[in-house]
Amino acid sequence: MDRIFSGIQPSGNLQLGNYLGAIRNWARMQHEYECIFCVVDLHAITLPQDPRIMREATREVAAGVIAGGVDPNNCIIFNQSQVSEHSELAWLFNCVARLGWLNRMTQFKEKAGKDRDGAFVGLYTYPVLQAADILAYKATDVPVGEDQKQHIELSRDIAQAFNSMFEVDFFPLPEPRIQKEAARIMSLRDGLKKMSKSDPSDNSRINMIDGPDLIAQKIRRAKTDPEPLPERLEDLTTRPEALNLITIFSALSDRTMQSVVTEFAGKGFGDFKSALSDLAVSTLGPIGDEMQRLMGAPDEVDKILHDGALKAKAIAAPIVAEAKKIVGFLNT
Ligand code: TYM
Repeated sequence: MDRIFSGIQPSGNLQLGNYLGAIRNWARMQHEYECIFCVVDLHAITLPQDPRIMREATREVAAGVIAGGVDPNNCIIFNQSQVSEHSELAWLFNCVARLGWLNRMTQFKEKAGKDRDGAFVGLYTYPVLQAADILAYKATDVPVGEDQKQHIELSRDIAQAFNSMFEVDFFPLPEPRIQKEAARIMSLRDGLKKMSKSDPSDNSRINMIDGPDLIAQKIRRAKTDPEPLPERLEDLTTRPEALNLITIFSALSDRTMQSVVTEFAGKGFGDFKSALSDLAVSTLGPIGDEMQRLMGAPDEVDKILHDGALKAKAIAAPIVAEAKKIVGFLNT
């Protein structure tokens, strides 16, 4: 059976893009594949973190993943720093990946901003750690949103380079699995910007933890344009905010975009937003409630992460031990 690996950063404010682009997919895959899902706290410290807040955010994100339908009895869920093989393999890969490959990574450029010399070295080698996450389990498939595609492609390059440097057929080349729908949910305030946990405006996103009133308010305030909704989906290409709201409606209702457009053709945003708001409240409401419950039960979450880490380590340890042997380390 194929093995799935994916990760999510513990940066708080889990938002609708994380849910529709990642978590919901994960929940759907868990019955078909062997799945390993990781809260990537090692990645989080590539930007400065407050230790106390990060601990809480790790629990919060784990709670969101579980509340979003990922069942710890069906798959492995843990936080990255509890399995030291990730860091160990990342070092081996630091000595396989080339500077030129990392120089091309767009996320580094975005996150480092203008002050590149001031960025942590860890932010630069971030995608190398991501390759280690995946390959420590010899995972074959990686479900992610569009924004992670470049990093998964780098993981393939690293796997291939390792195999060819040491003349082995050891690591599989992992496939990015990017679902077509909801691969990129955009900000509610700017249809050209990705919805993100780190956007300073809370009105730009629907958080998984938002209650019904807040969800309704954010949808009401979402930016739109003055035109009514068109009959044809193609006519939305120049209307990014409208397209985004239709995308969200279609993803939440599991309907095609065209069927949503057909239903609301000719109507104004008032009608559409009120239907979207009802839909969002009814689908996200129970998830938010369960997330709240889990956040009030930190011992339960910690136990899930601890048990998950033990299971993860049992898979990763022999793979990383073999990689170290291939590299030529003496183990006495
Ligand atoms: P992160 O924490 O930024 O996001 C987690 C997942 O959510 C998806 N996502 C979105 N999808 C659609 N629309 C959006 N607006 C949106 N925002 C986020 C992301 O594509 C991702 O799938 N580097 C990764 C974490 C990571 C990882 C890994 C992923 C570390 N190691 C190994 C896969 C495999 C990240 O920062 O995701």
